Amino acid sequence: MPTLLAIQVSPRPEGSISRTLTSLFVDQWQATHAGGAVVVRDLGAAPPPFVDVSWMIGAYSPAETHSPEVAATIKVSNDLVAELQAADHIVLGTPMFNFGIPAVLKAWIDQIVRVGVTVSADNVGLLTDKKATIILATGGNFAPGSPIEGYNLASGYLRQLFGWIGITDVEIILADRATAGANGETAAEAFGAPVRAAAA
Ligand SMILES: Cc1cc2nc3c(=O)[nH]c(=O)nc-3n(C[C@H](O)[C@H](O)[C@H](O)COP(=O)(O)O)c2cc1C
Repeated sequence: MPTLLAIQVSPRPEGSISRTLTSLFVDQWQATHAGGAVVVRDLGAAPPPFVDVSWMIGAYSPAETHSPEVAATIKVSNDLVAELQAADHIVLGTPMFNFGIPAVLKAWIDQIVRVGVTVSADNVGLLTDKKATIILATGGNFAPGSPIEGYNLASGYLRQLFGWIGITDVEIILADRATAGANGETAAEAFGAPVRAAAA
């Protein structure tokens, strides 16, 4: 049975465009993948810890040498990696913050990019046969042809990052409030069609 990992990033529990559209994706995916399992990882509600010295020791030394503190630190990373490994499809709903991604999403990325675990020492991504859909909510208009299209550093970064760990089948849906006048309530109307198509 297929598994969908749904990652929510927005700090807003209500009125969030990315949350609304990611939930819509999940509903459509469930309707079209009978028996499939959905795992939700809410980074906005429970941000992962930043990488620290304990994490670095844990990631770069054998498990049998780990102190209880290091073991507990690296377990957080191991659990997040296991969620990714178990998923067939990942839907990531995130706002753009200052032309890039929110810090909580970067914290998650730093937890799941692991040499020898998700990317090999010779730069081969190890998470194969997976697909990702990224729903990027922005205040500005970054559509092709917009004068500020090139300011969008989030799309290229996320595509490169997923590719780095082996997930090269990535679709990005720009949920652009300036273009469509969307807010959390009207987002489904404005962007529902591409989201439903990606989920199906
Ligand atoms: C701290 C912060 C930084 C933001 N930076 C940008 C930005 O650089 N470009 C942009 O178009 N919108 C920016 N926005 C607007 C959000 O991307 C937009 O409101 C988005 O809909 C938020 O996602 P959500 O609706 O899922 O909560 C920013 C919002 C916040 C709170």
